[in-house]
Amino acid sequence: MRRSVTIFLVFTVFLLGFALHNVWTLLSLLVVTGREDQISRAELPAPNSDSISEKPQLIPKIIHQTYINESIPAHWKGPQQTCLDLHPDYEYKLWTDKKSREFIAAEYPWFLETFDGYPYPIQRADAIRYFVLHHFGGIYIDLDDGCNRSLDPLLAYPAWVRRTNPTGISNDAMGSVPRHPFFLKAIDSLPEYNRRWVLPYITVMGSTGPLFLSLIWRHYNNAGPQDMDRVRILFPDEYNNHTWSFFTHHLGNSWHNNDVKFIFWLERHWVLITIVGFVVGLTLLWCIYSNFILPRQSSPGPRIRFPYARRLPFYRRISSKDIPLDDRHEV
Ligand SMILES: *[C@@H]1O[C@H](CO)[C@@H](O)[C@H](O)[C@H]1NC(C)=O
Repeated sequence: MRRSVTIFLVFTVFLLGFALHNVWTLLSLLVVTGREDQISRAELPAPNSDSISEKPQLIPKIIHQTYINESIPAHWKGPQQTCLDLHPDYEYKLWTDKKSREFIAAEYPWFLETFDGYPYPIQRADAIRYFVLHHFGGIYIDLDDGCNRSLDPLLAYPAWVRRTNPTGISNDAMGSVPRHPFFLKAIDSLPEYNRRWVLPYITVMGSTGPLFLSLIWRHYNNAGPQDMDRVRILFPDEYNNHTWSFFTHHLGNSWHNNDVKFIFWLERHWVLITIVGFVVGLTLLWCIYSNFILPRQSSPGPRIRFPYARRLPFYRRISSKDIPLDDRHEV
């Protein structure tokens, strides 16, 4: 019995180790804060401040946004206009589906097949923003984000993204110089991350969305980029909710569905789910072990009988029917 438990534990530890190895970067997102790369409010001029920033402006003055076509819905025209009004000296590029495809075909033809093959349009909307930032540089802003003040101070950082709670970074407002190594890594990794998961939400998040970008960010930082190449992080207070924040967030994500509600539910109950998962997983492992592996050994031990085990292939051979008669006499 003791030996079988040891084997069971070794097997379980091995399995957990393997699982952990595969999701290590994902787990590290739970503890990484990004504080060391924070664009702190102390280094930013106050909104409407007359102080002239001494920092050179590195990012080109371009605002990128994406939509299906040129007819932007009424509820997003307001936020869009706030950004246009605050930045009359910026070039404005709206990446429609048609323009996006033409751009990828012309500048990044190696990606066109993946781009066309994405099952969800939002994946193309996600992907295109990394490519335009890589190619032109500038600031990408989601249509549901409005501007609260001039983005000029953010032009001083070669690349920045924003932090999200509770983990990771988002891709709804990002800035970069052209050909920044972080966005190069992002576009380069897109084909590899193009996998389908059961829920559309996870597929989108993990293949092109914020989860994808967060994983790339972890890998990028783990490789120890030079100081100049570091990706700076805008924290929630500097993103919205305050008078000094750069953006205002407007609700209206067009693609949120039931699976999103499910994910948010999972997120709220993750401790409970983890515990239940472990209990169910270990019970299942023990069931399999005690029904299929343990009966081969003579030592009796506690068993959880798996009711249909007899009907499964391979099981019959080791079921009680096959125990020689002389063994039965001893019972
Ligand atoms: C733009 O896309 C929307 C949403 O699919 C559609 O309703 C509208 O007719 C399109 N407008 C044009 C000009 O194609």
